[in-house]
Parts: sequence; C-alpha cells; structure tokens
Amino acid sequence: MYGVNVAVLGATGLVGQKILEILEERKFPVRNLVALATESQGRTVKFRGEEIPVRSVESMDWASVQIAFFAASADASRIYAPRAIAQGVTIVDKSSYFRMDPSVPLVVPEVNGEAARDAALIASPNCSTIQMVVALEPIRRQYGLKRVIVSTYQAVSGTGREAMETLAREADDYLHHKDVEPSTYPTPIAFNVLPYCDKFGEEDYTGEEWKLTRETQKIFGEPLAVSATSVRVPVFVSHAESVYVETAKSFELIDVRNLLGSSPGLSVVDDPNQGQVPVPLDAANQDLVLVGRLRRDLFVDNGLHMFVVADNLRKGAATNAVQIVETLLARWL
Ligand SMILES: NC(=O)c1ccc[n+]([C@@H]2O[C@H](COP(=O)([O-])OP(=O)(O)OC[C@H]3O[C@@H](n4cnc5c(N)ncnc54)[C@H](OP(=O)(O)O)[C@@H]3O)[C@@H](O)[C@H]2O)c1
Repeated sequence: MYGVNVAVLGATGLVGQKILEILEERKFPVRNLVALATESQGRTVKFRGEEIPVRSVESMDWASVQIAFFAASADASRIYAPRAIAQGVTIVDKSSYFRMDPSVPLVVPEVNGEAARDAALIASPNCSTIQMVVALEPIRRQYGLKRVIVSTYQAVSGTGREAMETLAREADDYLHHKDVEPSTYPTPIAFNVLPYCDKFGEEDYTGEEWKLTRETQKIFGEPLAVSATSVRVPVFVSHAESVYVETAKSFELIDVRNLLGSSPGLSVVDDPNQGQVPVPLDAANQDLVLVGRLRRDLFVDNGLHMFVVADNLRKGAATNAVQIVETLLARWL
C-alpha cells in the first residue's frame, strides 16, 4: 500500500496537534499514524476523521514506523530519539535538544533544505528563529548581512498549551476584578509585557535570545552578529519581530520590497497608509511569514528596518517540520 508509517510524539500538545492538522491538510501520504504521549488511559486524537488512540511512548515499537515527528520536551527527545534511530526511523525534532549538535542539521527548507538530505535526525529551529531567517535569507543572498538586531513580541502559545489557558484565566480574573495569581510565568501575562521569554543565561541574555543568535549562525553557516531581546506579550498565537539589518552591499528599498515579495514563504504586507501592516491576528492559521514596515534607517547607510510576523505553531513549528519531511519523501516512496 502507498504511503509511510508516521509517529507523532507529543500528539496531544499544541505543536503535535498542528502536525496532525498539517499532515492532513497537505495530503501527506500517511499510511498508518501512531499518536504518542505520556502514559494515558483512553485519550484519543483526531486524524482524517478517525479517533486515534494515544499510546504511551515508553512501550512504542519504533520498528513499526519510518518517520517520527518529535514534539514533546527536550528530555523526551534525549531519551527516545536514540531508540527510534536504532530502529531505522528518521526523526524531525521540534525540541531544542539536538539543535546545536554539530552532527545534526538544523533546517528551514526555504534556506538550507539540502542539509537534511542524508540525515536520520533533523532538528527544526526555534519558532522565533524560523520566521526571522525566512525573511533574512533573500536579503542575505542578494546583499550580504553585516549585523542583525531583533526584538521579539512572542505569543504565549510558544510556551505550550498550559500558557494559553493561563492567559485566558488571568484576563478573565483581571476583568472581573479578582486577584491575578501568576502561574505559567513568574508575573501575570494578561495585560502585561514580560521582557524575557526564558531563563537568563550568559551575559544576561535569555536562552531564547541565545537561540536567535546561535541557531541563525548555524543555519546560515556564518558567524553573523545577531543580538536579540525576546519579549513575551499577551497574544495567543503568532510571534512578531522588529528586525534591524545592516547589509554588506547598498540597496534600494524598492528592490528589497520586490525581492521579499517574490521569495518563497514570504508575503509583503506593507502599505501603512491603507492600514496594511503585518499583525499576529492576520498571520495566524496560515503558513506565510508576513513582512512589512520596510524602511531605511535614518542614520546608517545600509540599515534596514522591518516587522516580521508568523504563526509560531504553523511555520514556527509544525509546518516547518512537515516541509522538512516532504523534502525527504523520495527516501521512502
Ligand atoms: N509552541 C510552540 O510555538 C513551539 C514552537 C517551536 C518548538 N516548540 C517545541 O515543541 C515541543 C512541544 O511544544 P508544545 O507547545 O506543543 O507543548 P505542549 O502543548 O505542552 O505539549 C507537549 C506534548 O509533549 C508530550 N510530552 C511531554 N513530555 C513527554 C514525555 N516525557 N514523554 C512523552 N510525551 C511527553 C505531552 O504529552 P502529555 O499530554 O501526555 O503530557 C504533550 O503531548 C517543545 O519541545 C517545544 O519547545 C514549540
């Protein structure tokens, strides 16, 4: 029978659910789907109109599938990826665990899809990195990049399902004049802005900020200067980024606009006088990375500002993972 057997680890989570949705939407040739999570009794997920039982990853027979999407925790990837690879499974991992391993390609198909070719394990970057490199790649190829400064405005769904429930509950409590008890984050997120998305690390940059620096360097294969400030905002879905770029060669703004408009995965939404600007609500539930607010820096010759918005659960996670596997399909069919 035509098709491949596919496992989704983390099938009950936000990203896992999106992967199921996107496999179905893109008519990925799934023959048999195995939905995996932690030990559970009687849970099911929906796929192609059927209720699929959720199985415990502990008792998974990895030899029964050819492809596995890992969308659980970094710890789960550390434990289960070697077991699956030993049984000949090709894995696309959404967790951070293998991303900076030099032997594991870190892939965004619009930028470096060919890097996935012979790999048994492919890492998909952090959501905020993916949308930024999709927008930067055409500029990098045409003009070269000297430096990037990015400030992110990240949706709570980037933290997982529980964070979405937290935002809804806190907003409700706030509007009903009840005390707002923080839970997912150290401070309330409803009607607030948190100038960090992760734990603080080296040089007082957070883990999320270091991901933007290091993952971008790995994907581009060059030690590009990327400085990031990652901010959590009370938005359910879609991350926004204010990106400042200094190019190596000079550019005309109109050429950059045309270049971005004709590049894969991008849509230019940039007519502020007509109210056309990229916003999270418009980016949600579709796969394009929206780019707008294109303008020259006032003081630096080759300085360019832009605003980049994308659905963190789709292009930032599930769609990117499915696209990676699509580039490898010939391996199994
Ligand atoms: N959310 C995003 O925008 C985004 C973007 C890029 C990458 N990622 C990454 O994608 C992964 C999933 O994120 P998410 O937002 O979908 O999180 P989530 O909504 O919290 O879901 C986590 C999923 O992983 C499962 N899981 C957790 N630990 C497990 C374990 N030890 N063994 C088996 N299953 C386990 C959970 O199963 P149970 O239901 O049994 O608990 C659940 O299905 C994370 O590594 C995250 O960093 C997320």
